Amino acid sequence: MKNVDYLVIGSGIAGLSFALKAAKHGKVLIVTKSNEDESNTKYAQGGVAVVVDKVGDSFEKHINDTLIAGDGLCDKGAVERVVEEGPDRIAEIIAYGTNFDKNNAGVYDLAKEGGHSEHRVLHYKDITGFEIERALLSEIHQNPNIEVLTHYFAVDLITQHHLGQFVNRNSDNIQCYGIYALDTKTGKVEKILSKITVLAAGGAGHIYSSTTNPTIATGDGIAMAYRAKAKVRNMEFIQFHPTALYNPGEYPSFLISEAVRGFGGVLKRRNGEEFMYEYDNRGSLAPRDIVARAIDAEMKKSGEDFVYLDVRHRKKEEILSHFPNIYAKCLSIGIDMTKDMVPVTPACHYMCGGVMVDEFGRSSINALYACGEVSSTGLHGANRLASNSLLEALVYAHRIYLDSKNRLNEFSAPDNVPDWNDTNTKLSNEDILVTHNVREMQKMMSDYVGIVRSDFRLERAMRRLRLLYDETEDFYKKTKISVKLCELRNLIQVAYIVIKSAMERKESRGLHYTTDYPDHSDQLNDTIL
Ligand code: FAD
Ligand code: SIN
Repeated sequence: MKNVDYLVIGSGIAGLSFALKAAKHGKVLIVTKSNEDESNTKYAQGGVAVVVDKVGDSFEKHINDTLIAGDGLCDKGAVERVVEEGPDRIAEIIAYGTNFDKNNAGVYDLAKEGGHSEHRVLHYKDITGFEIERALLSEIHQNPNIEVLTHYFAVDLITQHHLGQFVNRNSDNIQCYGIYALDTKTGKVEKILSKITVLAAGGAGHIYSSTTNPTIATGDGIAMAYRAKAKVRNMEFIQFHPTALYNPGEYPSFLISEAVRGFGGVLKRRNGEEFMYEYDNRGSLAPRDIVARAIDAEMKKSGEDFVYLDVRHRKKEEILSHFPNIYAKCLSIGIDMTKDMVPVTPACHYMCGGVMVDEFGRSSINALYACGEVSSTGLHGANRLASNSLLEALVYAHRIYLDSKNRLNEFSAPDNVPDWNDTNTKLSNEDILVTHNVREMQKMMSDYVGIVRSDFRLERAMRRLRLLYDETEDFYKKTKISVKLCELRNLIQVAYIVIKSAMERKESRGLHYTTDYPDHSDQLNDTIL
């Protein structure tokens, strides 16, 4: 059993940047389910959108671009907070040692991505996330107040429910006391108690069979929070990145950064025709929801599984210097992007909704904060603007730090939190059933809850999910837990939340497009479960 001041679940940009600040006020324990750097953060390519150049760019422009991409559903206060506080947070990670590319004049080289009216994306080649994760971890290693437990899997948040008390979903008295976590090296479930818990467990790309997310992204954070009766918001808005590399058999999918389109890359049909202007006057650099839907429509027309991205008109040395990682990956499968068009297809990429939080990252559960992709701050509305996610995590990690340091003495766990109880459970001898159910669920989500939805498809998805849910819950009750089993349970939980949220939205907006209600409704509503 452990008892700490601050417990952080997850070691991506949200968890690490919070931990570095909180460590000034107490002991911080980070638990993370895989290697310490394994996270969506590590794979971020394009960069961080932030207003650096106040001559050509402005806060107003960044705010406006975010609001337009969000299709009417952003919380303007959250947008202003992130955009206006962003530059100070970026200065901090630069001070930690993060490198961003500069041009020959020593000025930051700012890239452009879909939906941005200006060049404002700071980047480190095409491996920005890797560089940020490296710099943050190097600071973490030097901090004696921070302990990192790797290969520890958070199973459930501990609340009054575990003390045998009834907890009502709408109550404002639910309190988080910490977590049960599976030490995957010993197979034992430990109780970790905390004054403050920060959920920074990232996204849920693996609810679909095709995703750009690494395998850790199984929605554990959302599922845990929902089971603990936290409010979750706008989970129907799942962002499909328009341009994942089409490479059958590769799982997860490799991303071809939107920065390639910002650099001049153009989406084309097999015969070389550009098609995006037939859908939007911003062409290949329209916001992601529009581009992904257009590609989906093109693929349905052509009967093919991909379209092409053409960047051959740019100089080879420029392509190599801006996109060395993407160039090398394409070459490894026989595509030379300086000479060949690159086959691309949409893949699940980002969860725009999440655990609903206020301006200080507080969830609806006392002593529980949520930060980064797992949270819903209101920034993204119905569709996230490219490269706004890393910035959001930094800004809200700071806000959570400011709020939680003043509340450390408000919260503590009671003495009677029980240990994990797995009596009457057996070791599984059929893990393959778990694998089958994961695949079945992913296929069902891709077939029926993808880029284009309908009532009929959503109802069909919910019926199939019910069967998988019943089987999995039954198995879970009888079996000693494993990471794979918990992940399946979480994936099903998140799929349920996505389908239910999608069913509640009787309109098309941003990333949620349904053929039954193809237009915006007159009312702007969040979906809160
Ligand atoms: P993550 O970085 O995903 O970290 C989550 C952490 O939680 C991980 O350490 C994970 O292991 C841990 N965890 C999860 N479940 C558990 C559990 N049960 N127990 C213990 N630990 C757990 N955004 C941008 O702004 N710009 C970009 O250029 C960009 N490019 C991207 C490219 C790719 C390929 C991908 C996948 C995403 C990209 N994004 C980009 C999105 C962005 O990277 C993520 O939204 C962001 O990094 C999320 O940070 P996070 O800290 O919230 O979560
Ligand atoms: C990309 O590089 O295209 C990803 C950017 C993002 O998801 O914000």
